[in-house]
Amino acid sequence: MNKIRNNILMCPPDYFSVDYIINPWMAGQEGAPDREKAHHQWGMLRDEIAKYADISIVDPQPDLPDMVFTANAGVVLGNKAIASHFMPHERRPEEAHFKSWFSQNDFELLDLDEKIGFEGAGDCLFDRGGPWLWTGHGFRTEIEVHSEIGSYFNVEVVPLHLVDSRFYHIDTCFCPLEGGFVMYHPPAFDFDSRIAIESRIPPHKRIIVDTEDAGNFACNAVNIDNKIIVNSASSHLKKDLSECGFEVTEVDLSEFLKAGGSAKCLTLKLVDGVFEIME
Ligand code: ARG
Repeated sequence: MNKIRNNILMCPPDYFSVDYIINPWMAGQEGAPDREKAHHQWGMLRDEIAKYADISIVDPQPDLPDMVFTANAGVVLGNKAIASHFMPHERRPEEAHFKSWFSQNDFELLDLDEKIGFEGAGDCLFDRGGPWLWTGHGFRTEIEVHSEIGSYFNVEVVPLHLVDSRFYHIDTCFCPLEGGFVMYHPPAFDFDSRIAIESRIPPHKRIIVDTEDAGNFACNAVNIDNKIIVNSASSHLKKDLSECGFEVTEVDLSEFLKAGGSAKCLTLKLVDGVFEIME
């Protein structure tokens, strides 16, 4: 069977900076990121991803420093997309740009209720082993949107309730991996959410990420086939992942950590080889 190549949306960091504080990582970092270094790091990430996937680009916009985090453009399944409606007003001007990118690229868009906060693939992660969508709530996405997502995509939504503001999107502390594995940081979730994860993912497929690795955004990983691209991972995490068949590549993304984001936040899967094959 021919494998379908993934297509991943990225946005160059031409206007990336920390101008406001909308998550705890940004506190004290105003003006701190070095744009030249950020460009270099972003380029390294793009080149690494380009080995395994096609890259699509959305044009960066002046005065929208967080637009580089395309995971928050929306969430995509096949030709259907749901564009984000940001909780922090600072990011709301990004919405029009992402929506027009989706429309120009022939995605069918769902019109969400303007009153509900929803931050796209930051809070929506398709499981890689089962037919359900892990969907976060607690900080940036409201639970009210979950049923709309489920019916639009015709997929079961499994809510995950975030309880630690450092892990404000599920993609900062949870990562479904090929073969039905997940790597995650349990303390970021409430009790019921941990039970939801444990009841769906058997113990040998759960890779637990400790506080130190989670703080280095190890869960914020781009996974394509058995490759995992991540800001950094400790030797014990790399060992756990390699025992499950994964190969880890580290790309230093220190400048983006100052804005509370890392590898996975800088990407949005548009074409997902796994799902095209599952259909
Ligand atoms: N500064 C950005 C924000 O707070 C970072 C977004 C990170 N994105 C993600 N998918 N976790 O919105």
